[in-house]
Amino acid sequence: MSIQKNIAQHIAQQGYCIVDDALPADISESLHQYVTALPEHVFKDMGIGRGDSFRLDKSYRRDKSCWLTGEHPAEQAYLAWMEDLRLEVNKQLFMGLFDYEAHFAHYAPKSFYKRHLDTFKGQANRNNRQLTTVYYLNPNWQAEDGGELLMYADEKSTEAFKRITPKMNRLVVFLSDEFPHEVLAANRDRYSIAGWFRLKA
Ligand code: OGA
Ligand code: MN
Repeated sequence: MSIQKNIAQHIAQQGYCIVDDALPADISESLHQYVTALPEHVFKDMGIGRGDSFRLDKSYRRDKSCWLTGEHPAEQAYLAWMEDLRLEVNKQLFMGLFDYEAHFAHYAPKSFYKRHLDTFKGQANRNNRQLTTVYYLNPNWQAEDGGELLMYADEKSTEAFKRITPKMNRLVVFLSDEFPHEVLAANRDRYSIAGWFRLKA
C-alpha cells in the first residue's frame, strides 16, 4: 500500500496521522539543503488572520516563512507527493480537497507559535483550510533541542495528547479544524514545510 493511502486511512479513522521517513530520502535531503541555503530575507513574518483581521503579534507567533513556488525540483517532487495524498484523501474521505498551499517555515532559536487552530469551525471563508500538513527538515534533532509540536484532542483539552519532535522527514497530517496545537520554543534553528489542502474557491 502507498504511504498516501495509509495516511488517508488514518485520517478517516482518527483525524490525524504521524509518519516517519515519509518521503524518499533524496527528496527530503534536497529540501533540507534548499531551505537552509535560502537567504534569511526571503522569510517573512507571519501574521494572524486574513484580510481586515490580519495582524502581526510577536507574542503569539515568531515563525518566518516563504511560500513554495515549485521552481526547484525538490519542491516539485514534494508538491507531486502531496498531490497523490490529495487524490487519496478525496477518494477515501470524499473531502473534495481542491488545492494545496505550502510554505517553508523557519523558527530561529527561542521562536514559538502559541496554541491555535489552523481554521475555525463553520468559517465560510473561501480560503478555508481543511487538512493541515507539517513536514520537518531537521537532521539529528535531539530531545534537548525542544521545539516540539503539541497536539490537543479538542478545544477543551488542557493536556496535549501528542508531543512531536520535529525530526527529519517526519510528516504530521491532521484535520485543520479539529486539533488545537502549538509549537514550543526550540534551542536551535527549526525548519519545516507547513501546508494546507483547501476547498475550491
Ligand atoms: C503552523 C503550525 C506546526 C509546526 O504553521 O500553523 O502549527 O510544528 N506549525 O511547525
Ligand atoms: Mn498551525
